[in-house]
Amino acid sequence: MKYNVVLGVTGGIAAYKACDIVSRLTKKEVNVDVIMTRSATEFVGPVTLQSLSKNKVVTDMFDTNFYWDIEHISLAKKADVFLIAPATANIIGKMANGIADDMLSTTLMATKSKIIMAPAMNTVMYESPAVQENIQKLMQRGVIFIEPLEGLLACNDIGKGKMQDPETIVDTVIHHLTLTNDLEGKKVLVTAGPTIEVIDPVRYITNRSSGKMGYQVAREAVRRGAKVTLISGKTSEKIPYGISEFISIESAEDMYQAVITRAAEMDIIIKSAAVADYTPSQKSQSKIKKSEGDMSIELERTHDILFETGQQKRKNQILVGFAAETDHILKNAISKMERKNLDLIVANDVKKEGAGFGVDTNIVNIIDRDGSVTELPLMDKSMVAKSLFDKIMELYDDSRDDRK
Ligand code: CTP
Repeated sequence: MKYNVVLGVTGGIAAYKACDIVSRLTKKEVNVDVIMTRSATEFVGPVTLQSLSKNKVVTDMFDTNFYWDIEHISLAKKADVFLIAPATANIIGKMANGIADDMLSTTLMATKSKIIMAPAMNTVMYESPAVQENIQKLMQRGVIFIEPLEGLLACNDIGKGKMQDPETIVDTVIHHLTLTNDLEGKKVLVTAGPTIEVIDPVRYITNRSSGKMGYQVAREAVRRGAKVTLISGKTSEKIPYGISEFISIESAEDMYQAVITRAAEMDIIIKSAAVADYTPSQKSQSKIKKSEGDMSIELERTHDILFETGQQKRKNQILVGFAAETDHILKNAISKMERKNLDLIVANDVKKEGAGFGVDTNIVNIIDRDGSVTELPLMDKSMVAKSLFDKIMELYDDSRDDRK
């Protein structure tokens, strides 16, 4: 496995969510070593975390076969990221004030790795001056905090203090594990998801885009150090960690306005959204009632955002389009790339199983202006995004003076 995460679990009701975190990380081929405080073991059994991580779980329980003074240093060194989830007021306070009185706090003090904390506690505790001062102090030392959510807490209070969901926590950890700086200083605009074209207050026309591909593209750009603007239609995806600007849109017109006003300042524009080509000419203010016979809805063309961005493209700007095709994939994609003045086009055959809408995988060809085709096998959309940026980096490496 490529990366090592040490997960510190402290004693809060959210400790059970640590199981989900371990499971998600191991599925992403991250090795996880778990350290539990004594009170964490009251909430969740070490055996569960041991089975999920496939590693011995370190606790403060008496163990004659365990050389803890050596083990804590080796774990501290091994960690690429040290995650504390859930992080109680106690561990935050101990770390902020240099207290090392158990296995977890001792290992934490001995590590030089990136530390990420996901607090979970009662709202009043979270908002208390003591905890807030400790958080500030740790942030100044470079500790990353994943803000808790607002909601119904285990103590029946409603407020801030619920630990972030495991998906977001894992997303944050993966981001920090894989951070590079290839795109540092670059501004990247990504569009994602479907558009919604209103017919009347209760009906609309949309498409099957889930936004998964675009969100992975945005994540990859953030991971490479870019300043990322994500313009997205309605999806059930979580806003990726580290996005600089997130704009939620509904219609093709909304997306057009959002893109066109920002395009000029961008270095790279990647249009993975599935934008409606047509919208109802009349949007009824009241619900259309049924009547005898058939009905038809007149549609008019929307802006072809990618085409217009291509027309206004400045020198050294990289423009990438997506082509979801069902027939003559390469031929159609290449002609789309030329017509829209793109630098790269990502073409996929949406009829293939494992490609296209709604799934986590894709099968694509990445085509450049010289007509060279990179054929990628079935792979996770995150890997497609990585390959796409590898290709973009190749364009940066080439002499780019002759690009329009
Ligand atoms: N696109 C866009 N604005 C539109 C329609 C599409 O910016 N109104 C962008 C998409 O985000 C995608 C690319 O254009 O990057 C390809 O979209 P597609 O609908 O497949 O292309 P079209 O040119 O509309 O071709 P056709 O409908 O003939 O397949």
